[in-house]
Amino acid sequence: MALSPPSNSPARWLLSALLATSSLLPVAQGQGYKVGTPDEIRESARTLAYDLMLFYKGNQSGEIPGILPGPPTEHKGDYYWWEGGAMMGTYVDYWFLTGDPSYNHVVTEGMLHQVGPNADYMPPNHTASLGNDDQGFWGMSAMLAAENKFPNPPEDKPQWLALAQAVFHTQAAPDRHDGTCNGGLRWQVPPTNAGYNYKNTIANACFFNLGARLARYTENQTYADWASKTFQWLWDVGYIDHESWKVYDGGHVEHNCTDINKAQFSYNAALLLHGSAFMYNYTNGSEIWRERVDKLLEGILRDFFPDGVAFELPCEGRKGACTADMLSFKGYVHRWMAVVTKLVPDTAGTILPVLRTSAEAAARQCTGGDTGRRCGFYWSEGVFVDPAVDKTSGAGEAMSVLAAVSSLLIDEAPPPATNATGISRGDPNAGSRSRGPSEPLAPITTADRAGAGILTMLILGGFIGTWSWMSIGD
Ligand SMILES: *[C@@H]1O[C@H](CO)[C@@H](O)[C@H](O)[C@H]1NC(C)=O
Ligand SMILES: *[C@@H]1O[C@H](CO)[C@@H](O)[C@H](O)[C@H]1NC(C)=O
Ligand SMILES: *[C@@H]1O[C@H](CO)[C@@H](O)[C@H](O)[C@H]1NC(C)=O
Ligand SMILES: *[C@@H]1O[C@H](CO)[C@@H](O)[C@H](O)[C@H]1NC(C)=O
Ligand SMILES: *[C@@H]1O[C@H](CO)[C@@H](O)[C@H](O)[C@H]1NC(C)=O
Ligand SMILES: *[C@@H]1O[C@H](CO)[C@@H](O)[C@H](O)[C@H]1NC(C)=O
Ligand SMILES: *[C@@H]1O[C@H](CO)[C@@H](O)[C@H](O)[C@H]1NC(C)=O
Repeated sequence: MALSPPSNSPARWLLSALLATSSLLPVAQGQGYKVGTPDEIRESARTLAYDLMLFYKGNQSGEIPGILPGPPTEHKGDYYWWEGGAMMGTYVDYWFLTGDPSYNHVVTEGMLHQVGPNADYMPPNHTASLGNDDQGFWGMSAMLAAENKFPNPPEDKPQWLALAQAVFHTQAAPDRHDGTCNGGLRWQVPPTNAGYNYKNTIANACFFNLGARLARYTENQTYADWASKTFQWLWDVGYIDHESWKVYDGGHVEHNCTDINKAQFSYNAALLLHGSAFMYNYTNGSEIWRERVDKLLEGILRDFFPDGVAFELPCEGRKGACTADMLSFKGYVHRWMAVVTKLVPDTAGTILPVLRTSAEAAARQCTGGDTGRRCGFYWSEGVFVDPAVDKTSGAGEAMSVLAAVSSLLIDEAPPPATNATGISRGDPNAGSRSRGPSEPLAPITTADRAGAGILTMLILGGFIGTWSWMSIGD
């Protein structure tokens, strides 16, 4: 946007230039974003979405569509492959909730670029960090595009629903399942990756979540059966605490998954809640899913929303302890909880007030940087803390605040679509021709192996001292 040319006097010009500049800023310096009315929310979300896009280089010439700068193991930036997929999902919701289509072409291009040769989100470039959870996050963003009726890709490209099915089908295939720990998915896909011996909650929660959503969308009971079985496994193995409904991180196959790492990450619990809400809705209100929704929700509000503001329990108490991955979790929690209010309508009275106090706190601390509106991670402190304390450039922080603010519009939004109301074409055979993960084009270096995926960041991030039992790989 150009400033108006100088008029009569320099002083007048200066004044009008100042006024023009400040009207571009949605926030007065040091005030944080306004999120009181729907108009204020849309306006704030618009600027948050703009600022988050500045972290993304994927639509510039010579850059790779779909990913945030990374991976760290190749010294290319702070972000692993999966977080690009999570960011695409955040913009799919941003468009759905605000109606602003500005980034839709960037999202479509990025999501299609990363599908890989078999259209199942296993691109050879990322084999070295390919966890079931990493693939799952891309699959869930594709599922979201179908549920939100995001504009379809061109006819000759893979379609959103088919992509979600492909991810699910590859994860349901026999080669991803074995008898250790009585079932469950392993964390990593390639047996050679560090972390293949870890069976964790997030990998299984992504698979469960996609199954629940595909069941509701397609009304195919096979998906629901997988979802039920996967939830039951998480329960039986004790990753979901039978008393407190705390959700733990995972365990190793050589210990029959009894060496449970009890770190509680917010996204694990929230993803199970979200999937349970889909199962509740799909089953027309079954008691067992109702109990799971209620108990998980109770636990999440108790553990992750002290004073009604999102708090990343395992790491937030110590500055510098959350990894780049963890710095993005609050956003998913907000987005998923918002959708729960659509599928289990009588939870809205409990969930929405908390999402509001939390989003207000999130918006209030966005007062940093040159623009005076940069966002940090420490929402409950009410003051901006520079993302540099967590050794990151701040994309996760920006994404979380965008998610929290735009999710305040959930009331006005329709529920997730199904085959009856949606526009995305599926493919019951999607992913069935996929083999194991393709070999990466470049030789795998030791650094690549060490850098596999989400949990490894704990180690790289200096967590080994805190949670020395979280040793992975051999
Ligand atoms: C990248 O996308 C943004 C947002 O849509 C747009 O403003 C920008 O011009 C695009 N850049 C290129 C090089 O296409
Ligand atoms: C894989 O990596 C190469 C080299 O960085 C890049 O040119 C290509 O676009 C990447 N492919 C995908 C699907 O991201
Ligand atoms: C239901 O889904 C399963 C698993 O993808 C598939 O094998 C089966 O053909 C589907 N059934 C129908 C009726 O589409
Ligand atoms: C492994 O743990 C499961 C429960 O998760 C139990 O049913 C099974 O008997 C255990 N197997 C062994 C060999 O201890
Ligand atoms: C839910 O109710 C609808 C409408 O009565 C019915 O068609 C559907 O089969 C039911 N779903 C399940 C999983 O029972
Ligand atoms: C399922 O979701 C729909 C759409 O939001 C809602 O109208 C319906 O009441 C939900 N079903 C149950 C059993 O709560
Ligand atoms: C989904 O909807 C399409 C179009 O309305 C219809 O042709 C198709 O048979 C439906 N599929 C299922 C599995 O119900």
